[in-house]
Parts: sequence; C-alpha cells; structure tokens
Amino acid sequence: MSKVHVFDHPLIQHKMTIMRKVETGTKQFRELVDEVASLMAYELTRDLPLTDVEIETPVTKTTQKMIEGKKLGIVPILRAGLGMVDGMLRMMPNVKVGHIGLYRDPETLEPTEYYLKLPTDVAERDFVVVDPMLATGGSASDAISSLKKQGAQSIKLACLCAAPEGVKRVQEEHPDVDIYLAALDEKLNDHGYIVPGLGDAGDRLFGTK
Ligand code: URA
Repeated sequence: MSKVHVFDHPLIQHKMTIMRKVETGTKQFRELVDEVASLMAYELTRDLPLTDVEIETPVTKTTQKMIEGKKLGIVPILRAGLGMVDGMLRMMPNVKVGHIGLYRDPETLEPTEYYLKLPTDVAERDFVVVDPMLATGGSASDAISSLKKQGAQSIKLACLCAAPEGVKRVQEEHPDVDIYLAALDEKLNDHGYIVPGLGDAGDRLFGTK
C-alpha cells in the first residue's frame, strides 16, 4: 500500500486556511497555491539521492553533497494543476513538464483523456502528477494510468486538498504511488465537492465561474 504524506507545517496550514476562505480573491488564491506548491516541492524531493563532489571554497578544498542529477518531471492535470507548476519549478528549475487533459464524460461520468504530452524519456524520469483537488480520485487515477501506459516507472501524486474517498481510490488502483497532501479533509458532498475544501480550484485560480 502506498504512503500518504500530509504536510502539517504551520506555514502550509496557515496558507491553506486563507485559501479556503470564501472571500479570498483570485490574485491571492493564485499566489497561495503557488507558494504552497513550492513548500510541497521541498518535501517531495526529500528522498533525492545525493552525490559527493569536490569543490573549493575561498578557504579550502572540501567534499560536499549535490543532487545526483536525477531526471524529474511534473505533470499537471489540466486545468487546475497548472496553478501548482510555477511554484514547483521555482524549487526544481530543471525539471521537464508534461501535460495531461481529462474531461468527465457526461454519460459515464468517467474521466476521458483529451490531451497528453510528456517528455520523451518517460521511463527514466521520476514523475509528480499535480492537481490541487483529489476529490473522487477518478482524474488522478486515470492520469496515473495514462503515464504508466506511456512507460512511466516512478510516480508520485501531489494535491493541496483531498477527500478520503479520493485517497482510497488512488491507493487501491495505484498502490505504488505515494500521495502528498497539504490537507486531508473530511468528505465529499453530494455534488462531488470536498468538504470543507476550498470550492472549485480551477475557477478560483483562473477567475472563472
Ligand atoms: N474539484 C474542485 O476543484 N473542488 C472540489 O472540491 C472537488 C473537485
């Protein structure tokens, strides 16, 4: 079974609370998503392998650590996932960015893929699929399946806010994918919104309704 990491750092909790407030406007919401994504990137990369390098400081020669040059990729689920990309890129400026677009089929209610563009060397990269909201888990699970179909071997899922239902579905369908969250909320309501949640993340990010 995969692990679920909920970041309970005070900075993240504080920023999430402001994001949840109904009166928080698009500009501030967008900035906060970006900031929380940066803070999450810090935790997401905690297990990156380090290697010894010989360097010279102004004082002496020394052996120090640097990241081993692991290939990483971020894959936002369109469209709300886009809000988390810049924040993560600030911490990991060399990563490649793929994109995946899914829409909910009005008849089956299942997510259907309409866009997929990934870096060419899929099998050699560690991917982080990003989407602010993990609600039913349908889109995240399908996005992960699409990546696996293209040859991805190592995938993490990073979301700001999740319902237990979504976590359960992803864990059941992808027991190899660890889930990173800024908040694990109470439940889904009858309209598929996370409770207490923060509303429609895409609309709040882009100022649409
Ligand atoms: N998608 C959102 O943007 N918000 C929710 O609460 C659930 C799904």
